[in-house]
Amino acid sequence: MKNKDTLETLINFWNTALTMSEEDKKEIKAAADENNYVEFAPADKLVKALDNLLNADKILDYGCGSAWASLILAKKGAKYVKGVDTSTSGIEAGKFLLETYNVKEKVDLEVIDEAWLERQNPDSFDGGFCSNILDVLPIEISQKIIENLHKVLKKDAVLVVGLNFYADPKIKPLEENKYIYLDGVLRLLSLSDDEWRQMFAHYFEIINLDYFAWPGETSERRRLFVMKNK
Ligand SMILES: C[S@@+](CC[C@H](N)C(=O)[O-])C[C@H]1O[C@@H](n2cnc3c(N)ncnc32)[C@H](O)[C@@H]1O
Repeated sequence: MKNKDTLETLINFWNTALTMSEEDKKEIKAAADENNYVEFAPADKLVKALDNLLNADKILDYGCGSAWASLILAKKGAKYVKGVDTSTSGIEAGKFLLETYNVKEKVDLEVIDEAWLERQNPDSFDGGFCSNILDVLPIEISQKIIENLHKVLKKDAVLVVGLNFYADPKIKPLEENKYIYLDGVLRLLSLSDDEWRQMFAHYFEIINLDYFAWPGETSERRRLFVMKNK
């Protein structure tokens, strides 16, 4: 499948997946209190990892989805967060969450196209977060995003990256040895820890690699990189 087709299919897929119904909104609004915003994160370790960014003046949440990380950063005291995503419904859900939890002044959410990152000025951000993006795109696009994150972040800025587990092509055959498509939608770019390290190494110094699980998963196989921009 060509990258352009893959990207269009992905945008439609994420738009549907991230749509928040009026019913969902009502429930969230009724339950919202001063502490439960952390429940929008898929794992406690991700919430903790966001602490690495709290000293940064301007944080970029790249591919923010429904902006749960932007919300948590703002609630934890971050000065300013820019959350961007190609999904209009993701950004709409994010705006609802920020309003519900009274932090919309601290976070600027924007629907972007895939070339947005490329157009940003160098050294525009002091910290970056990128969860579950690089591992759901064609490898050439992920590589370009990494290169551009390096460009838009200041030197020594911290970048926190969350990634899926590794599906070993020796155990389960994958397309081109690295992709899983479900119903024609690219759902996983499967790279080993070392392959991800190599993707980052030219641009970032890897400070830590930890592993985490989503609720219901019995072992911690998802990857959580904390890095410093070179
Ligand atoms: C698996 S979701 C992750 C969302 C969020 N970061 C999270 O951790 O829940 C993947 C997200 O990537 C977004 N996305 C896909 N391609 C993108 C691109 N080229 N630039 C920015 N975001 C993109 C999708 O719209 C979707 O919100």
